[in-house]
Amino acid sequence: MKKLIAIVGNNADKSTNRQLIQYITNRYADLANIEIMEVKEFPMFNKPVDMTLPENVSEWAEKIEQSDGVIISTPEYDHAPPAALTNALAWLTYGSAYPFVSKPVLITGASYGTLGSSRAQTQLRQMMRAPETRANVMPGSEFLLNHSLQAFDDDGELVDKEKEELLDALMNDFMIYIDVNAQLLEAQEANRQAAIQHSWDEE
Ligand SMILES: Cc1cc2nc3c(=O)[nH]c(=O)nc-3n(C[C@H](O)[C@H](O)[C@H](O)COP(=O)(O)O)c2cc1C
Repeated sequence: MKKLIAIVGNNADKSTNRQLIQYITNRYADLANIEIMEVKEFPMFNKPVDMTLPENVSEWAEKIEQSDGVIISTPEYDHAPPAALTNALAWLTYGSAYPFVSKPVLITGASYGTLGSSRAQTQLRQMMRAPETRANVMPGSEFLLNHSLQAFDDDGELVDKEKEELLDALMNDFMIYIDVNAQLLEAQEANRQAAIQHSWDEE
C-alpha cells in the first residue's frame, strides 16, 4: 500500500481544508495509508544560521522523504496560499531538508469564494518548483472546492457528487502518476544535487 502525507494548509482551528483532507484520508483509505500533517505545529520560520531544524520539522521532513507522495490542501488568503502554509514550506526546504525533490504532489484547495482557491493553487504550484523544492506536481490536475463552508454535510461527506467523482478520478490518477514518477530516475540525482548545492546566500 502506498504511503502518503496529506498537508492541512491552514492553522485555523475551524478549517474546510482540514475537512477536505480528513475526507480524503477516509474515502481513499483503500488506496493509500494517508498521514495528516498540520502546518500549525510548525514554529515561525526564523532562518537559524546554524541551519538546525526544530525536532518536529526534521521528523516531518523525514516522513515526507519516506512517503510515496504528498497531497496539499491550500486555503486562499488575499489570492495567495496563507502564511501558515508557506511558513511550513520554508522550513521543509531549508538547510539539510530537501524532502520534496522529485516527490509526486497533488494540490487541492478549498475556499469560501467562487473560485475555490484557484489563485492560491496557481501560486503554490509555482512554489513547489523552487530551487530547493523541485517537487513533481501532477500535471493536468486541479481540484477546486469553492463555497467550501457549504461543501460538506453533517457526516463530513461532499455534498456535490460531481466534485466527489472528480476527486475519485484525480486520486486514481495520482496513484498511477506515483508509479510513473518512480520510473523518472535519470535526472533525479542531478535534481537532488542541484537542490543541495543551491544557496540563496550566494546568489
Ligand atoms: C485575511 C483573509 C483573506 C481571505 N482571502 C480570500 C480570498 O482571497 N479568496 C477566497 O475565496 N477566500 C478568502 N478568504 C476566506 C477564507 O478564509 C478562505 O476562503 C479559505 O480558503 C478558507 O479555508 P479554511 O476553511 O481552511 O480556513 C479570506 C479570509 C481571510 C481571513
